[in-house]
Amino acid sequence: MFNILVTGGAGYVGSHTCLKLLEEGFKVIVLDNLANSSIEALNRVQILANRSLIFIHGDIRDSSCLDRIFKTHQIDAVIHFAGLKAVGESQQIPLEYFDNNISGSLNLFNAMQRASVYNLVFSSSATVYGELHKSPLNETMCTGTTTNNYGYTKLIVEQLLEKLSQSDPRWSIALLRYFNPVGAHPSGLIGENPRGIPNNLMPYVTQVAIGAREKLSIFGQDYETIDGTGVRDYIHVMDLANAHLCALQNRINRSGCRAWNIGTGRGASVLQVIKAFKDINGVDVKYEFAPRRDGDIAICYADNQRAVSELGWIPQYGLEEMLRDSWNWQKQNPNGFNKG
Ligand code: NAD
Ligand code: WQD
Repeated sequence: MFNILVTGGAGYVGSHTCLKLLEEGFKVIVLDNLANSSIEALNRVQILANRSLIFIHGDIRDSSCLDRIFKTHQIDAVIHFAGLKAVGESQQIPLEYFDNNISGSLNLFNAMQRASVYNLVFSSSATVYGELHKSPLNETMCTGTTTNNYGYTKLIVEQLLEKLSQSDPRWSIALLRYFNPVGAHPSGLIGENPRGIPNNLMPYVTQVAIGAREKLSIFGQDYETIDGTGVRDYIHVMDLANAHLCALQNRINRSGCRAWNIGTGRGASVLQVIKAFKDINGVDVKYEFAPRRDGDIAICYADNQRAVSELGWIPQYGLEEMLRDSWNWQKQNPNGFNKG
């Protein structure tokens, strides 16, 4: 059996990936400090999979904790989700972001090397493309002009991993550049559980739809897009989870560091999302137009051909399923993983 250490496995993308890993027969060891997640997510993952995983409540910045994990479990590969991800917050508390996302990652890579584990899948982001290029974005385009501290941490870790693999051919590294993850497991048992006011569009939309928030502010109505609102490449979290398994299966033990875009290759505007949400779920989402948000770009979607041809990864879910499953999760869990 293949043993996978999943850092940040209790989080949104991590929990869905843990479920897929368990379903495929992997042994799963999760390391998470629960800074932005709930243990209830992993309880439900185990119910859905009808298999158990090992949970370690700890921090990627804790070297002795990492060494203990690698010593106790024969880890074959690491999927590294752990980190902080709120763009606005990263401007307010940059050192926290540098510490968790950059120092924490380095600490993990050092522990991997001490344990002779060189297979890594890293959660990167389309944000590394910055605002220089015109969509569709492909992996040959240069990176290096991120617009916020969060994006900067992803870029730095990508660059560190690139250099590391150039210097040491033992490393096998997959950089998965996610576009905009949305949706939830179709059961509605696990999903995205944002703390406080959501930063991202989809949880905001579902919270307005359920009455937890009054209305959505649409950031900008004068972009050069089909209807003036921002266009993004939304990707179902189940497809995203599957990309990690494809990366493990296709790239493991292959020397080098390589990036793949994980998006559908199709863009949808904010207004298109709201309209489709109503058509599919029969619920109105009240909105108003607001000024553009700092750092936003008009259009961002993927050229995903590299992932399709090299990883054999083909997205299965369209916008309809994304909106259906996001709503299903919200309806069944009006307070996320918190009871009451
Ligand atoms: P999430 O916040 O739900 O999950 C991250 C998990 O990491 C959480 O469970 C959190 O408790 C844990 N964590 C944070 N710091 C930690 C630390 N120092 N030690 C141990 N655990 C720690 O986020 P997500 O949406 O599941 O994102 C997963 C990864 O994908 C992140 O690295 C994120 O930056 C990246 N990513 C996310 C998106 C997105 O929009 N969701 C897009 C692109 C990339
Ligand atoms: C989508 C669209 C907004 C909220 C962010 C990060 C990126 C990645 C994914 C981690 C945009 C509009 C949003 C709202 C709105 N994360 N919007 N009202 O900004 O594309 O990407 O999450 O790596 O790094 O930057 O996603 O969901 O915030 O916004 O009008 O209340 O919805 O302007 O056009 P974004 P998002």
